[in-house]
Amino acid sequence: MTADSWDPGQYAKFLRERSAPFFDLLDLVEPRPGLRAVDLGCGTGELTRALHDRLGCRETLGLDRSAKMLEKSAAFAAPGLRFEEGTVESFAPDGPFDLVFSNAALHFVEGHPDLWPRLASLLAPGGQMAVHLPANQDHPTHVTAREVAREEPFAAALGAYVHPTHLLPVEAYAVLFHRLGFARQSVKLVVYTHLLESRESVVEWVKGSILTEYQSRLAPELYGRFLETYRQRLLPRLADERPFFFTFKRVLMHATK
Ligand SMILES: C[S@@+](CC[C@H](N)C(=O)[O-])C[C@H]1O[C@@H](n2cnc3c(N)ncnc32)[C@H](O)[C@@H]1O
Repeated sequence: MTADSWDPGQYAKFLRERSAPFFDLLDLVEPRPGLRAVDLGCGTGELTRALHDRLGCRETLGLDRSAKMLEKSAAFAAPGLRFEEGTVESFAPDGPFDLVFSNAALHFVEGHPDLWPRLASLLAPGGQMAVHLPANQDHPTHVTAREVAREEPFAAALGAYVHPTHLLPVEAYAVLFHRLGFARQSVKLVVYTHLLESRESVVEWVKGSILTEYQSRLAPELYGRFLETYRQRLLPRLADERPFFFTFKRVLMHATK
């Protein structure tokens, strides 16, 4: 993903549906007084503010590499809450956190077998890690995008880029937490279901997520052709029903050191 492939407006179109797993993840966190938390890939910061308020954190840092997403974060300012532009890969904080939290962002970061130990090392004793990873990579929305990206003229213009899948098998995260010495853990695969207006709405959904990765790499005219090819290929693969029943798999995990 390029740093600024994000379009906060398009992403916010399904904010209610997209925030449900955030609140489910937040429910897994054990509240404790005076937490120091970091939200990795915080986006606009709207949900980081919800985390900060709900847990009554002493200090919360929202980190994101997209300046466009962070532009919105000023609206969510609060005492003890700050936002910083930076990548998860180069994040080198000045002290330990009681909570390392990430909602729908770490699937963009490669090398989870190395990333999990690094994130665990950011925790104070007794600290918590809470992560939500979207896991719909085998859904037609994702399969079709990869398929179209491999075809010409898009493949040449994309330099053979196809959005990668960094997710490990779900049970591998449980093994990682175990090997890293976490005392308690819960790793679950959840199917979220959404009633969208029609199958066309699914295209609007992915325009705010995975398709942004292609949009940022293609000239506007070529992206228009990419989108049209994608739409024509995807729609016959989805049930022609109103409302459209959209399933979305997500991995929610929480572990305590
Ligand atoms: C799907 S959005 C989720 C935003 C927010 N957590 C939410 O739930 O609304 C993913 C965010 O992760 C950020 N992101 C992706 N890869 C990143 C990385 N390597 N370092 C920092 N942020 C990253 C993107 O810029 C984007 O804002």
